[in-house]
Amino acid sequence: MQSLSQFLASGSTSESLQEVLSVTTQTCIEISNALKKGSLAGILGMAGNENVQGEEQKKLDVISNNMLKSALLASPVVRAIASEEEDDIVPAHTDGEYLIAFDPLDGSSNIDINSMVGTIFSIYHQTGTAPATEADFLQPGKNQAAAGYVLYGPSTMLVFTTGNGVSMFTLDVDKGEFVQTQPTVEVPKDTQEFAINMSNQRFWAAPMQSYVTDLISGKEGPREKNFNMRWVAAMVGDVHRILCRGGIFIYPWDNKDPSKPGKLRLMYEANPMGMLIEQAGGKAFTHTDRILDIQPEGIHQRVAVVLGAANEVDTCLSYK
Ligand code: AHG
Ligand code: MN
Ligand code: MN
Ligand code: MN
Repeated sequence: MQSLSQFLASGSTSESLQEVLSVTTQTCIEISNALKKGSLAGILGMAGNENVQGEEQKKLDVISNNMLKSALLASPVVRAIASEEEDDIVPAHTDGEYLIAFDPLDGSSNIDINSMVGTIFSIYHQTGTAPATEADFLQPGKNQAAAGYVLYGPSTMLVFTTGNGVSMFTLDVDKGEFVQTQPTVEVPKDTQEFAINMSNQRFWAAPMQSYVTDLISGKEGPREKNFNMRWVAAMVGDVHRILCRGGIFIYPWDNKDPSKPGKLRLMYEANPMGMLIEQAGGKAFTHTDRILDIQPEGIHQRVAVVLGAANEVDTCLSYK
């Protein structure tokens, strides 16, 4: 079995991109080690601050953000970073080749119940030597040079793409390195499993209500098959399940706050997960557009997300 560094060195990934991936994933191993200590390290609970998203930060949101931030800013190939937990972009080296956007800890509400969380990252290539600005980050997701996540579950796993398919790695805790455990990933076009927070049903638009009503009508309904439901409450866990055994994940628009087009963040969640899902043969859309085509207007922009099995995404979006 190949280690991550062997895998990267044997492919066409540039040395500078290998460096970004190596710094990011090494830091995720440190986050994984910190998570394993849990309460013993005094890292659970609230940080007592609100982030720019208007969310109460957990201590681990702040700790994991600071770990990634300091490791990436120290790397000479990094031009700048953007994070869910930072108000603004943070510039690093003017001749750095890469911009990195990340969700340092996805699934914050799972931390204190010892359930699944992860780190999601999105990497863009940047030419020139100008100091970085927010505008540099405002590129459609189809420009991503690489995207992936580290899932802190029963085992710690790394899943990423550089645009040539998706592969999965598992952390060998004895050696402290990721080892490739699945070289290819394919999301089946059809599914009988969906993921959506059903408690929001009354806030959805009419087409989403009809679509989910038809799903749960089962064999007797218009879909003529039974559907199972799962909700990890961490996108990283739901997307990982879809990459492992298929399915559709939806975080739709709702009218709890009609000014927001969705809950999930385009740059830290939808784009990287969209690239992974597409690279595995699935689809990733808002209610109307391919996610990777969206021209971002701000680094913290939110979007509705419908992703996973290609035919099921088509069916969901056909409800008008
Ligand atoms: P984050 O913890 O980074 O703020 O993201 C949480 C997101 C996403 O991971 C998950 O799918 C969703 O919020 C869960 O939302 P609900 O609380 O509505 O279940
Ligand atoms: Mn958050
Ligand atoms: Mn998140
Ligand atoms: Mn987060």
